[in-house]
Amino acid sequence: TLPSEITIYEVGARDGLQNEKSVVPAQVKAEFIRRMASAGLATIETTSFVNPQWVPQLADAAEVLELLGDEGRGPRRPVLVPNERGLDRALEAGVGAVAIFGSATETFARKNLNRSVDESIDMFRPVVERSREAGLWVRGYVSMCFGDPWEGPVPVQQVVDVAERLMDLGCDQLSLGDTIGVATSGHVAHLLDALQERGIGLDQTAVHFHDTYGQALSNTLVALRHGITVVDSSAGGLGGCPYAESATGNLATEDLVWAMEGAGIRTGVDLESLLSTSSWMAQQLGRPSPSAVVRALTNP
Ligand code: HMG
Ligand code: MG
Repeated sequence: TLPSEITIYEVGARDGLQNEKSVVPAQVKAEFIRRMASAGLATIETTSFVNPQWVPQLADAAEVLELLGDEGRGPRRPVLVPNERGLDRALEAGVGAVAIFGSATETFARKNLNRSVDESIDMFRPVVERSREAGLWVRGYVSMCFGDPWEGPVPVQQVVDVAERLMDLGCDQLSLGDTIGVATSGHVAHLLDALQERGIGLDQTAVHFHDTYGQALSNTLVALRHGITVVDSSAGGLGGCPYAESATGNLATEDLVWAMEGAGIRTGVDLESLLSTSSWMAQQLGRPSPSAVVRALTNP
């Protein structure tokens, strides 16, 4: 059975933009977030408080939140935070929610966080502790849940181990990242079963599929059949990870909304309004959206 409604966790402003080569002005980022919110996206990851030398595109995190005012804060406006320095900056900017981001593989932990898996968990521990003390909502991502460009297929138990460690730190929600988009439906089902066997509730779990092989939507449907109701997607299908070259855009929010409408599943999103937002953003970036639904429904 499928749920009657889902929560879309919109990552276009963060995952979508972090890989863009030319720096998008803070004003445009703030406007993008405002337009997505008015299209009905209730949960929007706004930016990252990572080392600005690692992700120069999001070095303006504080400025974007400043431009957004109250619209950029609260429990439904998470920001990425890797360490205590990032948390200090995020707290100073008045955020209401944060997301830490671990890796299921050693190679990607090194490439993305400059740490081993163990060291990165140690780095996250005080971040989660202090976030909870400050009353923030906390998400824990696990990257490379299905395959890793350096290590190949990733064993399910390895993913579950890292997921459990992040949840044990005190995260409110887990997000399973298919960073390079290699997951297929059977693998998704297998991982979700293994998580449940370990006592990690799928009501606390989200899925985060990149669409490199065009499987993001079918993977999402399998996840929904398993009881997942929070789905990460990015407006217009923007996205990628600068530290995993084979990563392309996330599942496009339009593709997701189109499929959900067809299945009678509520998302709260107005597709027309979101399409015009993504078309506007594509103009800003000077490049057409990779989303099939955006291409089909937008006049060139
Ligand atoms: P490091 O170089 O080991 O950091 O990087 P460090 O702790 O040694 O500090 C070095 C310097 O950076 C220090 O400055 C720090 O203050 C500064 P110095 O004392 O030399 O002048 N620094 C910072 N400055 C501002 N904000 C900070 C910060 N941290 C340190 N937060 C670090 C370690 C984790 C910081 C680095 O590796 C990093 O920033 N990584 C982030 C990479 C990233 O953003 N990747 C993309 C997001 S993850 C993703 O896309 C996957 C996801 O979508 C899910 C999926 O698809 O699977 C979430
Ligand atoms: Mg991602």
